[in-house]
Amino acid sequence: MAVVPYKDKSTSKREQVAEMFDNISPKYDLLNHVLSGGIDILWRKKAIRQLKPYAPQTILDIATGTGDFALEALALKPKKIVGVDISEGMLSIGREKMKKRGVDQIIEMRSGDSERLPFTDNEFDAVIVSFGVRNFENLLKGLTDMHRVTRAGGVCLVLEFSNPRQFPFKQVYRFYSRTILPLIGRVVSKDSSAYTYLPESVQAFPDGPDFLRIFEAAGFTNTQWIPLTFGVASIYIGQKSQ
Ligand SMILES: C[S@@+](CC[C@H](N)C(=O)[O-])C[C@H]1O[C@@H](n2cnc3c(N)ncnc32)[C@H](O)[C@@H]1O
Repeated sequence: MAVVPYKDKSTSKREQVAEMFDNISPKYDLLNHVLSGGIDILWRKKAIRQLKPYAPQTILDIATGTGDFALEALALKPKKIVGVDISEGMLSIGREKMKKRGVDQIIEMRSGDSERLPFTDNEFDAVIVSFGVRNFENLLKGLTDMHRVTRAGGVCLVLEFSNPRQFPFKQVYRFYSRTILPLIGRVVSKDSSAYTYLPESVQAFPDGPDFLRIFEAAGFTNTQWIPLTFGVASIYIGQKSQ
């Protein structure tokens, strides 16, 4: 059964995820940095560095949220970055952020679902997504549409939480994510389910080699898995064949 944010509701995972991110959007950036001790910033930087050799000029940031991964991607000096998301709440905070930083001409934030991307085939040099794929209703469908809009020879990069496998990181992480994280999340965001959904969705997510299998089933080749911080997060990279 799919892991959803609000177990007592009968709406689809997609609708519940959009509702949850709308609810937590005002506190999302703050909670991200507090709950990860700021490591999320370093993870995004490291992920974007992996794309330097590809020098992408057009980048699509899926599940862009408030746009932090899109902002990080500016380091690649692209001509255009488009961010898409299903939560209007997250997008409106993101749009304000882009305006304040004077980058709203380069980074465009649009409403869009990862499974029905509003773009033609082969449109982007690079397609990226951070902490988004875990929330997709249908992972294979989302990755397949990401493959469709990537140009031949282009690259796709996914940054996502994963499950540490080694003692004692596995045990420490499990304790933190099941007790401390939901407590802080609940108090700050005022959403009682969002930060319980987070560890549950991470645990249910196919990470490492399991993710690579689905990534390849979606069409990507030359796939790589780069674990970060004892496996708490992972970078996955794949290419679209020429
Ligand atoms: C944890 S946030 C990540 C935001 C941003 N990428 C970051 O690194 O901070 C996950 C985002 O995925 C979006 N999302 C979830 N499912 C989606 C889908 N099917 N299509 C597009 N966006 C989606 C949510 O609305 C939310 O803004």
